[in-house]
Amino acid sequence: MSENGQTDFKTEDEALQVLLDGDIDKVMAGLDRIVEAAPSYEKLFMRWQRQHWSTEDFDFSEDIRQWNDPDLITEEQRRFMLFGFSQFFLGEERVTVELLPFAIAAPSHEAKAFLTTQISDEAKHMVFFDRFYREVLGMKADDIGAMLETQRPNVNQDWEKLFDGILHDCAERLRLDPTDFPALVRGVTVYMIVIEGTLALTGARFIVKALKERGLLPGFVSGFTAVNRDESRHVGFGVKFLADAIKDDPANARIVEDTLKECLPIAPLVFAPSWVEDPYSFDTPFYHSSEVFAYAMKALSKKLAAMGLDPAMLAGDPA
Ligand SMILES: [Fe+2]
Ligand SMILES: [Fe+2]
Repeated sequence: MSENGQTDFKTEDEALQVLLDGDIDKVMAGLDRIVEAAPSYEKLFMRWQRQHWSTEDFDFSEDIRQWNDPDLITEEQRRFMLFGFSQFFLGEERVTVELLPFAIAAPSHEAKAFLTTQISDEAKHMVFFDRFYREVLGMKADDIGAMLETQRPNVNQDWEKLFDGILHDCAERLRLDPTDFPALVRGVTVYMIVIEGTLALTGARFIVKALKERGLLPGFVSGFTAVNRDESRHVGFGVKFLADAIKDDPANARIVEDTLKECLPIAPLVFAPSWVEDPYSFDTPFYHSSEVFAYAMKALSKKLAAMGLDPAMLAGDPA
């Protein structure tokens, strides 16, 4: 978006084109361009129509072979991956269900139409993970609900505070009163900016990069990259929605700021496996937490800047 708030349609098309790329860092760079170009909800909807993929598209045969080879994947790597995968799997289920009241509360038909596409995306992501858990990780359960239950012990307490606490509260308020616009501003900040734009895309970028560098789980990497192309579109919606809300009424900037301050004490801790000693500084079999935190903060700052907010607000008040 240019400084006077106008968007260049050619730039929008170019920015959205990058989402077709299969390389995760290009997907991330594409997200930056989308956030800057601020495509309309209609443009985001058109892109969704042209970006369909199926959970059955991916060949997991090499993934199955690798997962069952103890010489290829260490126990430590396996434990860490299971933690990361499960936080995503359960997260996809939560965001599928909790998005329903958001779509009802959206103020225009264009925004509603886009959010219904996102609900179907999130359901597809959940089904993708369910297939991966069954076929590659060899987990057995009668249905998706039972499968999710088997993985529940793998998520950490901060994941629960964010998804079962804050996100659920946002969705409940919208369900009880879909006309509560400040509740929608808070909800979009939690959902699209904190959960998707800061945590999920950062976590995904590090997982995909680590696996790709080691030639591990190629079927999963392809599918998960498709998942994250969808996520970029979702974050594009959130940034556009909040930028417009702030332009219409500067009081909405305060809601975004308060919501970020509500989430930020918890959000970085979602990255930490429950067994680490210090959740603010820990090693994983693939990278150090400091790299992840730095990437996440940068990702968040970019989104705030695109909404016309000063990322310095995150420094917080001297309380
Ligand atoms: Fe998703
Ligand atoms: Fe999403």
